[in-house]
Amino acid sequence: MRKIYIFDTTLRDGEQSPGVNLNTREKVEIAHQLEKLGVDRMEAGFPAASPGDLAAVNAVAKAIKNATVIGLSRSREQDIDAVREALIGAQDPCIHVFLATSPIHRKYKLKMEKSQVMDTARAAIQYSRKYFSKVEFSLEDAGRTELDFMVEVTAMAVKEGATVINIPDTVGYLTPYEYGNIFKHLKENVPGIEKVQLSAHCHNDLGMATANTLAAILNGADQIEGTINGIGERAGNTAIEEIAMALETRQEFFNAKTSLQLSEIARTSRLVSRLTGMVVPGNKAIVGANAFAHESGIHQDGMLKEKTTYEIMTPETIGLKESKLVLGKHSGRHAFREKLVDLGYELSEEEVNKAFAQFKDLADKKKEVSDNDILALLEEKLTDT
Ligand code: KIV
Ligand code: ZN
Repeated sequence: MRKIYIFDTTLRDGEQSPGVNLNTREKVEIAHQLEKLGVDRMEAGFPAASPGDLAAVNAVAKAIKNATVIGLSRSREQDIDAVREALIGAQDPCIHVFLATSPIHRKYKLKMEKSQVMDTARAAIQYSRKYFSKVEFSLEDAGRTELDFMVEVTAMAVKEGATVINIPDTVGYLTPYEYGNIFKHLKENVPGIEKVQLSAHCHNDLGMATANTLAAILNGADQIEGTINGIGERAGNTAIEEIAMALETRQEFFNAKTSLQLSEIARTSRLVSRLTGMVVPGNKAIVGANAFAHESGIHQDGMLKEKTTYEIMTPETIGLKESKLVLGKHSGRHAFREKLVDLGYELSEEEVNKAFAQFKDLADKKKEVSDNDILALLEEKLTDT
């Protein structure tokens, strides 16, 4: 089975979520947890952005022993020098240099012709290679770049000794079919492409980051980039936990796996949420509070008979104790009776029927009926009789 390398950018692209600012201590705490999760590579920040970020990247570089630590850099020497300084003390350092290649970015942001983009990127890779044996080069806004220009830039990057070439869908514009095809095309048309790893980096503006990343994997991507809980610029980045669990759950389809310790997913998600202040929506895939919760009577009945009726993965796999059967107005007698047993009540059939009717009345008025609500209801019922 093919191994997919995990490049975590929670501490860089994730930190670019509006309103998020991690200090050095927080970055190191998350980095240690990412190391436990088993990410292969982690991007710790953008050292040229501020002295504080340079110091934070340096602290992560010194703290992490079991993953490659990466610093981001624009294609300019001052930025590359900042990454050199930030990665002093790293066990396995890597620089990530980028330059935009799309017509929109060339015209409005860089004000460069194609040839200038090519020369600037070449110079940046050459300068980086003097100091780093691992150099990732990203064609920013690759998603809106002409395919033939992408081939030219990628061929140049391979020739200059980049070790990973990243194809970002920077603005989350592409569909899975289109994004997958880019990887296929590069694999078939770039001379020497087998010498480098190809990486997928997707944003979620149209809600397709996970699907696009999986399409890239199916078309030969060796590495995927993403963040925990999918945090990041605008609508965020690919959520790493979604990719890991898609590959795990549909092994026979993807024939690819990560080296992640899946049982660390829930803990990592909670830590990132707490330190970034970004609340995970209840219905978020894999790590949302409802991802393993069942409310309707039909589903609860199925779950009580056989869990695979309504769960395609187990909560234990990601480090949670158990699924939850939430009692609400759609819940049925089977789940209600189980709850009574859990709470220590052995009631006759008639008593269960009475309590169930009262529970339904209450459930019509409340979104979720808690254990305490049921206990109160039973106390009332017992004192009534
Ligand atoms: O989305 C993007 O293009 C990026 C680059 C810096 C790789 O985050
Ligand atoms: Zn990005």
